[in-house]
Amino acid sequence: QKLLLIDTDCGIDDAQAIMMALAEPTVKVVGITCCFGNTTVDYVCQNVVKVLSVCERSEIQVFRGACCPLVGGKNDFTDHFGTDGLGDVLEDRDSEVWKDKIQKEHAALAMIRLASENQGKISLVAVGPLTNLAMAVRLDPTFPRNLKDLYIMGGNMEGKGNMTPCAEFNFVMDPESAYVVLEEYLCPTHIATWEFTCRNTLPWVRSVYIFKIYMVNQDTAAAKFMKLITSKCWAFSKTFGENNRDVHFGQGFVPYDSFAVAACIDQRTVTDSIQCPVRVELQGSLGRGMLALDPTNMLKKSHSASVMKSCDQTKFCKLLMASLNQP
Ligand code: BDR
Ligand code: CA
Repeated sequence: QKLLLIDTDCGIDDAQAIMMALAEPTVKVVGITCCFGNTTVDYVCQNVVKVLSVCERSEIQVFRGACCPLVGGKNDFTDHFGTDGLGDVLEDRDSEVWKDKIQKEHAALAMIRLASENQGKISLVAVGPLTNLAMAVRLDPTFPRNLKDLYIMGGNMEGKGNMTPCAEFNFVMDPESAYVVLEEYLCPTHIATWEFTCRNTLPWVRSVYIFKIYMVNQDTAAAKFMKLITSKCWAFSKTFGENNRDVHFGQGFVPYDSFAVAACIDQRTVTDSIQCPVRVELQGSLGRGMLALDPTNMLKKSHSASVMKSCDQTKFCKLLMASLNQP
């Protein structure tokens, strides 16, 4: 079994991505670390505990991490997935029972420890702002060497963004951390950028089939949960997709983070990629947080990343559908 450590800012697409990893028999999730992003880090922890309980996988340990970026104050959270990150539809929000399920160890320390206990065996999948990852490498610069590889959902590859005109949410929320990670993590690094996830997302018919027909007909806790939490964001995503057809072919719920998990589970879901040095832009009012690709290595970097270009939709859809079939 592949060992996966997931770092998340658990919004709706993160929940979907976590469920994909949990459903995959070739994968063992060794822990989930939480970061602010789609919502506060407390809601993120609560959301992860909820997803694990829905999938009857509460034995997986959950670690609380960063509540804000490395530099500057708290960024505004997007309202894309509601105040609580899961569409504001869950009823048991006031209960504090979830707090008992969070480990005492900080997320960044847990990452370092787990990688050291499983030398070269852990794939780290990061689907939120990269603050915990940046903290971990600053606490222990040797830590990335103990990882097998790193999969990131974040950044952009064509200078287009979803938070600013040219930068993507996870990188904009903490540009310094994204910079540190892409400079310091010298392990094999795979990036599912925002444009990649939009361009390779499911055509409308397939998306409707999976999330409206297939999902509704599954009598599983995971499918019922996804139906509930996507009930509001679907309408928003459809309108956004229709208004932004050039980059957003999905026109429905886009499972951004699931692309990173799918690539980690099965490299064959990625059919084409660009291998090149990358760097995060830290300056500028529009460019801050933008991912720059450097195919001719003008930056003279020794390390390059694999930036995903296209995906095998049939394989990806199979993994998506499997995630709804649990427990
Ligand atoms: C990313 O931003 C978050 O809203 C999503 O969960 C995803 O990780 C997409 O830009
Ligand atoms: Ca996310």
